[in-house]
Amino acid sequence: MNKGKVTVFRYNPEIDIQPRYETYEFPYKPSMTVLDVAMYIYEQIDGSFSFSYACSNSHCGLCGAKINGKPGLMCREMATQEMVLEPLDNLTVIRDLMVDRDEYEKHKDSLRLNLDRVNLPLQEPEKIALKDLRRFAVASRCVECYSCISVCPSLKENPHEYLGPAGFVQLARHAFDPRDDLNREVIAYSGGLYNCTTCGRCTEVCPHDIAPSENIELLRARMVASGNMPRAVSQLIEMVEKTEKLIQKGKSSFIETTSMKKAKVGLFVGCNIDYDSRLQSIAIAALKVLQKMGIEVAVPQEQVCCGQPLKEVGAVEEIQKLVLKNVKAFEQAGCTTLITICSGCGVGAKKLWPGIYKEATGKDLPFEVMDFTEYVATLPFTDFVKPLNLKVAYHDPCTLKRGQGIYEEPRKILKSITKLNENAEDACCGGGGGLRVSNLKLSQRILKNRVNSFRNMDVQAIVTGCPTCIKQLNIGLAQNGMRKVEVLHTAVVMARAMGV
Ligand code: SF4
Ligand code: SF4
Ligand code: FES
Repeated sequence: MNKGKVTVFRYNPEIDIQPRYETYEFPYKPSMTVLDVAMYIYEQIDGSFSFSYACSNSHCGLCGAKINGKPGLMCREMATQEMVLEPLDNLTVIRDLMVDRDEYEKHKDSLRLNLDRVNLPLQEPEKIALKDLRRFAVASRCVECYSCISVCPSLKENPHEYLGPAGFVQLARHAFDPRDDLNREVIAYSGGLYNCTTCGRCTEVCPHDIAPSENIELLRARMVASGNMPRAVSQLIEMVEKTEKLIQKGKSSFIETTSMKKAKVGLFVGCNIDYDSRLQSIAIAALKVLQKMGIEVAVPQEQVCCGQPLKEVGAVEEIQKLVLKNVKAFEQAGCTTLITICSGCGVGAKKLWPGIYKEATGKDLPFEVMDFTEYVATLPFTDFVKPLNLKVAYHDPCTLKRGQGIYEEPRKILKSITKLNENAEDACCGGGGGLRVSNLKLSQRILKNRVNSFRNMDVQAIVTGCPTCIKQLNIGLAQNGMRKVEVLHTAVVMARAMGV
């Protein structure tokens, strides 16, 4: 029989001064779940080992734990021959893998999680439209395993004023039930609905594919539709309605200075890079890098905001016009590939545009959308670069890693042109989801954690693919005594390596 080895977090606050890790051997079988291993330790090795479970079948949510660094249900995950088991983060440890569920349960009392009905059904049996049923049926699958809570950067920094992803899923279950008559927008708002960075970490780990972050965006859309939105959101909507851009024009517009009108490859610039003179170098670098490799690039003047920031704050009504205008601009420029240099725009163009465009025109997008790194990684870029003597770490923008599933490509590029330190954590910088304008203090606290995670890494630059992350990280580095560390877009590092 094969042997397995599991290292387990052990802590009994009543007798232990501090937590410790213990390693146990177990008879490994490929059909074993992680819960089977925990049961083996408890039954055969140490009866004081503590963890929770009830159903062994993914339904009770009690067996949530960190398995090899990732949250999950022990009864659902298959055991591997070497494992590390730890309690979920962001919750107080009662003993070993058991966490205090009361902290979260307290929040639930304020949510009024019962069907609150004023208008009785007009007919029996009552009919519910399929589209309504789908929406609240998904949220109803939540088993309250707290995996999402354990990875939420906003909840970590603001546990008392933020419901967190699981809380909003519970709320959404009732808010999207067409039989429910309670004004749940008020509860959502007071639970910190606009404290979410839309980082998507909760969605990444949910074992039941509930997508808490999407539920949060849908709840925000209800707030906006009912007119009960924060001032920062209504200002953003007004700005886009008036200018078709997300931000005020600075001294110049990058798009207005370019002359390339037609080509197979098009560059989507995005509002931040277009109007912010500190970021325009990203577009200049991207164009130079592509041109160096012989790629002609069109930059249509008619391109406008991608619409993704509007989706994140719940202003969905305004998006269609922007999508149609953008698609027309790149179609007329003859583009069959659209390259994004802002990962937020990229996720919008990849995930938001196709559905909206199809609904409005019945057609598919006339081009493929690719992130800059995704496109460059397909080209023989190493033929054009001279490696730099630059020590860097890579910061994964949430909208690139989770939003677009792009992880390897920037690393492939950076490994061949810089000295890449690969130990950077995967963590949100606190700049997304409109958090900086809706709750600056919370955004700063998340940012501080992020910046501190680079402190001992001995790097000269942090490289990333999102202009919002670049702005946010620059602020964080300056505020935390790390001014010497540069923040660069991958396109800028490539341009340096190409000497263009
Ligand atoms: S939303 Fe998903 S991850 Fe969060 S508590 Fe519910 S089942 Fe668990
Ligand atoms: S998207 Fe990020 S900040 Fe928002 S609830 Fe999920 S984990 Fe928390
Ligand atoms: S034991 Fe119930 S979900 Fe795992």
